Amino acid sequence: MKPTILIVDDEPGVRSALSGVLRDEGYAVEAVSSGEACLERLTRGPVDLIVLDVWLPGMDGLATLARLRERQVDVQVVLISGHGNIESAVRAIKMGAFDFVEKPLSLDKTVLVVRNALNQRRLEAENRALRARVDRQQSMVGESYAMRQLREQVAMAAPTNGRVLIYGENGTGKELVARTIHQLSRRRSAAFVEVNCAAIPEELIESELFGHVRGAFTGAVADRRGKFEVADGGTLFLDEIGDMSLKTQAKVLRALQEQTMEAVGGTARIKVDVRVLAATNKDLQAEIRAGQFREDLYFRLNVIPIFVPPLRDRQEDIPLLADHFMAEFAREYGRRIKSLDAGARGVLLRYPWPGNVRELRNVIERLMIMVPGETITTTDLSFLDPGALQRTPSTDPPAERQTLHEARDQFERDVILRTLAEQQGNMSRTAEVLGVERSNLYRKMKAFGIAPARRADADEEGG
Ligand SMILES: Nc1ncnc2c1ncn2[C@@H]1O[C@H](COP(=O)(O)OP(=O)(O)OP(=O)(O)O)[C@@H](O)[C@H]1O
Ligand SMILES: [Mg+2]
Repeated sequence: MKPTILIVDDEPGVRSALSGVLRDEGYAVEAVSSGEACLERLTRGPVDLIVLDVWLPGMDGLATLARLRERQVDVQVVLISGHGNIESAVRAIKMGAFDFVEKPLSLDKTVLVVRNALNQRRLEAENRALRARVDRQQSMVGESYAMRQLREQVAMAAPTNGRVLIYGENGTGKELVARTIHQLSRRRSAAFVEVNCAAIPEELIESELFGHVRGAFTGAVADRRGKFEVADGGTLFLDEIGDMSLKTQAKVLRALQEQTMEAVGGTARIKVDVRVLAATNKDLQAEIRAGQFREDLYFRLNVIPIFVPPLRDRQEDIPLLADHFMAEFAREYGRRIKSLDAGARGVLLRYPWPGNVRELRNVIERLMIMVPGETITTTDLSFLDPGALQRTPSTDPPAERQTLHEARDQFERDVILRTLAEQQGNMSRTAEVLGVERSNLYRKMKAFGIAPARRADADEEGG
């Protein structure tokens, strides 16, 4: 998108000359003739840079600048000062203007200053975003029992070369787990390469994974390296592995078995040293039964299974995550942190988060942008499905009208969930700890609407 520049000058000659050169430089340019008009324009949408004359009828340039700062308008400002009026230029810089140009205006000089100012603005924004991303990558936030277990498993799996299969619902943090494993491994200085198997069309996925040679198919105009090769020495993260076709699965299996691969249309097999991490939100056991997933590939990938629990089963993490994302977005947008009042915190705790951590993150970002004040209240959260909030959190005292039967069900459900988390979803061990038959545990889970443990297979391997 083109950067937008707003020129504020009362002389029509200056407005048209500046507009002309800046437009020629490829910017979107608007012009107004007073400080008041400038402020009015900014209420209607953002601009990237303002070229502001110091001498203006009515509100002068410095007063306009002061207003912009007061309103925390995120914009770069370049001042045009009258000849010899260095004093006000210096004051402007102190008030956060980027630079000033003196009248009589040199158009070349102005264009240069504008370009520098926009560059700096872009770098600052990139810097903020990068810093936020780095922080985000490195921290798996949460102090619930389930999270501490997860961190421990990640720390244990990371330094090995073992393949890890990460299970979990949408938005639970599977990718974060994969990135953390890479960060904590000896491969950390090499590449972490991600392939989203669900997002790539079937006819392109092989070329994406293994590369292709020029002319291998229509559109293959040059040789292209595949992700396996790009990840050489590092980590390849196969996301949404359950969405890979059987044909591609066969090729991936061979690559894993032989640690070599062949580009589409190529003849030579290339040796690669890649650690594969995979993730899925599907029940791969069911996919195998349905003939959609190769069992042999499944066993290759599932050397170390890691289960990321849904957010509703680790409510204690919700406030920590909310604060974490608040800080992240405050940094990213260069704004102040907002606080959640008790009511708002209660709503976040009671909401079941079908989209898990990602949904929570989106909600916090939305609040950061949309709530004008410093405090977030229940009304700011009214867009969350109110019907969903009926659910009683397991930490609440039993509801007044609860029957003994309901109370027992709730208690049983909680115990099963906790034990499943402790046993990382292993059904046999969970059944053993709880002292019930496996089939009985399955039945109970079904009745309570608990998703079947996705690593029931680990039982057959003896855990
Ligand atoms: N424990 C956590 N601490 C901090 N941030 C987290 C945590 N878990 C998830 N996130 C953040 O939530 C978002 C969603 O996580 P991620 O993309 O890893 O989920 P996912 O399971 O891969 O989701 P999907 O199934 O939709 O691909 C990311 O921005 C991630 O950084
Ligand atoms: Mg993901």
